[in-house]
Amino acid sequence: AGFLTGLDAAQGIGAAPQPAAPAKAAEPLTILFATESGNSEKLAADAAKAARKKGFKPNVIDFGDLQLSDLTKAKKLLVIAATWGEGDPPSRAVRAYEELMSDAAPKLDGVEFSVLALGDTAYVDFCGTGRKIDERLEALGGKRVVDRVDCDLDYQAPASGWIEATLDTIAPAPAAGGGHVIEVDFGARQAVVPDSPVTAEVVDHINLNSSRSAKETFHVALGFENGSIPYEPGDALDVYAENDPALVAEVLDLTGHSGNEALRGDLIRDRDITTLSPKTLEKFVAATGNAEVKAMIDGGHVRDWLTGRQLIDLLAAYPSKLSIEQIFDITRPLAPRAYSIASSRREFEDEVHILVSAVRYESFGRQRMGVASSFIADRVKKGANLRVKLKPNKHFRLPEPDRDVIMVGPGTGVAPFRAFIQERRAIGAQGRNWLFFGDRQFTHDFLYQLEWQDAKADGVLTRMDVAFSRDAPEKIYVQDKMWEKRRDLVDWLDGGAKFYVCGDAKNMAKDVRSTLVKAYADVKALTPENAEAAVRAIENEKRYLTDVY
Ligand code: 2AM
Repeated sequence: AGFLTGLDAAQGIGAAPQPAAPAKAAEPLTILFATESGNSEKLAADAAKAARKKGFKPNVIDFGDLQLSDLTKAKKLLVIAATWGEGDPPSRAVRAYEELMSDAAPKLDGVEFSVLALGDTAYVDFCGTGRKIDERLEALGGKRVVDRVDCDLDYQAPASGWIEATLDTIAPAPAAGGGHVIEVDFGARQAVVPDSPVTAEVVDHINLNSSRSAKETFHVALGFENGSIPYEPGDALDVYAENDPALVAEVLDLTGHSGNEALRGDLIRDRDITTLSPKTLEKFVAATGNAEVKAMIDGGHVRDWLTGRQLIDLLAAYPSKLSIEQIFDITRPLAPRAYSIASSRREFEDEVHILVSAVRYESFGRQRMGVASSFIADRVKKGANLRVKLKPNKHFRLPEPDRDVIMVGPGTGVAPFRAFIQERRAIGAQGRNWLFFGDRQFTHDFLYQLEWQDAKADGVLTRMDVAFSRDAPEKIYVQDKMWEKRRDLVDWLDGGAKFYVCGDAKNMAKDVRSTLVKAYADVKALTPENAEAAVRAIENEKRYLTDVY
């Protein structure tokens, strides 16, 4: 096919015929995205679609696949980067991100670029990853053509604005002398409008922990009127939660709106009345002129004060008559919460199952509750309706049926692996399946215990290792079990097994990865550097996959 390659590149064999005008080769545009939950990836696709309409030939690259040489080849570069947790890059993007920040990064003299950053104002270092990439591209000699835009959870509108503005700025000059008017049907705004949620009925709502457990983890089965939604194992489900009416009543009270039913409804369904960020405080000062809060901002003490506090603490400390407009301004839209799907359609044709752990804790004398989880735990009952939307995750898929699979999923992290096991049983997959599960106590917190026993008995679950952290004086975690079984683990991986991790991103997923590096070092007598390289190679082969939150 050697001779075809050149032809292919020049004329796009196999692609749809190019429009006749303008008779100018489409200009290359590199669109780079770093994604954890898929939002940046979707926006990159939207940007590519819009770019094509403007006469570009976009090349969309996942940060996870990025080679630094891709950057030196780029003349025009759009970066869409999410920040995960406390300022971290998405897990798949870590390798290329570190390379970009290192001395190995190439000069990017004259590369025209712009960055769209996605983040969450509830976390420190809001949009930190996008900001650092933006600064780095400039330091390497790149030319910023449009200022970075930082987006909060309601990213759709600012993102389409950025796509439009950036493409307009860097758009190829129209073909000279052709006299053609290129009809541009600008698609970005339309493309990024989310498909609307659908209504599902709660057909099962069961606390899987024993009544003596300190935890409550709900198995929620959802039914759909017109059959199921077309999900695959590994996908997630966005749940549109409602705020606690008692909390809403307090907000109404403290802002001078008690009895306002319309506003009450808005606040229950549509506004995030929990998150408190530096931006919230700024907006609060703008609305109220509150001198104390202003002094706190000016003094740089905002982060200290925010930690452990929520919007209600601000309002309780400084009750203020706010207009409805001001309330909308200081709150952000209530974003859906994604839960990994715990079922397979091949076993539960018309249902979707999710696993929801109720988040409850106390701080500053108040009982706090996770918005979505406490809604599902306390206010959703069997027979109720929920608004949900499929959130596909094509990066967390089962491999071909005869490949071995290793799954690490403590707590609610086990959810997608229940889907995996159901799926593999249903299709009669021949690959072996090894599950690591952990939770606090064997007798109270062994989620889906009987199902795992069945799966062991019918052979679909080849091995299962459990780590109960609060049954013994010493904590035992899933990674301790991995360490114990490190020889077999390395053996499976050398045989081509895929390795999946789901659950807590902050500690567990990091500890699991470093344990795997140590396992390679020990089993194969490698230096720490070479063991790291071995795990990195598995990641590069897309055999190390994460779904972490
Ligand atoms: P712990 O709460 O007793 O510390 C599910 O939440 C399970 O994950 C619990 O058993 C919890 O233990 C455990 N866990 C907490 N931190 C972890 C970590 N860094 N790595 C692995 N598991 C962890």
